Amino acid sequence: MNIFHSEKLFPMIKKQVYLETYGCQMNVADSEVVLSIMSDTGFGITHDAASADVIFVNTCSVRDNAEQRVRQRISMLKNYKRENPGVLIGVLGCMAERLRTELIDKGNVVDLVVGPDEYRRLPELVESAFSGQRGIAVKLSRVENYDDIMPLRTEGINAWISVMRGCDKFCTFCVVPFTRGRERSRSLKSVVEEVKRLSERGFKEITLLGQNVNSYQDGEFDFADLITRVSVVDRSIRVRFMTPHPQDMSDALIQTIAGNENICKNIHLPVQSGSNRILQLMNRTYSIEHYLGLVEKIRNAIPGVTLSTDIIAGFPTESEDDHQQTLDVIHNVGYDGAFMFKYSPRENTKSWEMGDDIPDEVKVQRLNEIIDLQQTISLRRNQAHIGTTLEILVERESAKSNDEWMGRSDTNKVTVFPKENARVGEIVRAKIHNCNSATLFGTLVSEPEAMSEYRLAVNS
Ligand code: 5AD
Ligand code: SF4
Repeated sequence: MNIFHSEKLFPMIKKQVYLETYGCQMNVADSEVVLSIMSDTGFGITHDAASADVIFVNTCSVRDNAEQRVRQRISMLKNYKRENPGVLIGVLGCMAERLRTELIDKGNVVDLVVGPDEYRRLPELVESAFSGQRGIAVKLSRVENYDDIMPLRTEGINAWISVMRGCDKFCTFCVVPFTRGRERSRSLKSVVEEVKRLSERGFKEITLLGQNVNSYQDGEFDFADLITRVSVVDRSIRVRFMTPHPQDMSDALIQTIAGNENICKNIHLPVQSGSNRILQLMNRTYSIEHYLGLVEKIRNAIPGVTLSTDIIAGFPTESEDDHQQTLDVIHNVGYDGAFMFKYSPRENTKSWEMGDDIPDEVKVQRLNEIIDLQQTISLRRNQAHIGTTLEILVERESAKSNDEWMGRSDTNKVTVFPKENARVGEIVRAKIHNCNSATLFGTLVSEPEAMSEYRLAVNS
């Protein structure tokens, strides 16, 4: 029976969809699009897998360990399906795109394999699967951007807004251009509309998302135009963005961040390696000198800005000297935080063909050195805040204590403090008295204290 009809005839017995998400924030945003599509076509959404008729797993392919985690989950679902043969299992996202029929062929568990550009077809594919026809839809599109779909979000503080999809950069280690296809941007108008609606619903922070977010382009409008227009919708909403590419970090964008109080003073700027030879092999399209020049320009234009980065240890042919150059860059920039990875060869990428010649124990050792150095620097950067006062957006209860809140400064410093009278969604002032490399600890202060105090501390 057609689901559209079944919904009308038996409104009480909607089929229930359960979805779990792996990987990056783009996947989180995509999952909200998927739930919106399913709910608009008459499905119920459940947070309890045991009561679901359809289980979707939205997957990540960026590194092998991300895929292994999903494979383990799929094999657990195999046992579940043996006891509940009526349940449909769908694999969505990057692994669906990369592995395609392999997922359906292996083990008789998966009923649907749907790539990131085919989510509009999900209701139709689910319907066919319920009548016994397994489905695969993995065409990549040059235009699909789900511009007209309002993602189904749970109420909260921070909303993720995907503003562009895909990537044309083709870093040689990366599967994203293959699993998510070519770059395409949503219209500026629809993004601004979405922000207005989020403001009406009481969201306090939005993060503009894209694999390569600062290559956003809608006709004559670039990313600096987009973020400017977004930031004026509601000045009480904090605006963040992820992930920019150093090559597209324009002067106009830097000035826009500097000139708008509610655009957060925190930039994630993936460097990947400190060696020009490796950067070239990675096809990162900048030299380390250019990157360091950019960091200087950003710091001069935006006092107190915090910087974070991504780093890969053990790229093919990486020598001890290349590795030292990476440590030098970490030291010279003084990042506030970093995501640090061991190189993971991905089939069909250019670097796959270069071989994976760095032994695992060397990769692990280099990665540990990178992590140790970064932790020391993160701690030092955090210690510079002790005695200062920060404006914190209260997000939720601290993971470690239900007497404390956790929130973040606009510079993205995670801060924990006693609840007192503060409420989730409020911006409060916290005086910092202690820290570790990941978290600041503070107490609430009622007297407004100057933000510049902290900015001076960080720059010194
Ligand atoms: N191996 C290790 N790390 C990778 N990343 C992307 N592809 C790989 C890979 N094959 C990292 C990069 C990127 C982040 C999202 O994931 O650092 O910036
Ligand atoms: Fe992957 Fe490079 Fe594109 Fe980032 S910019 S998604 S690392 S290809």
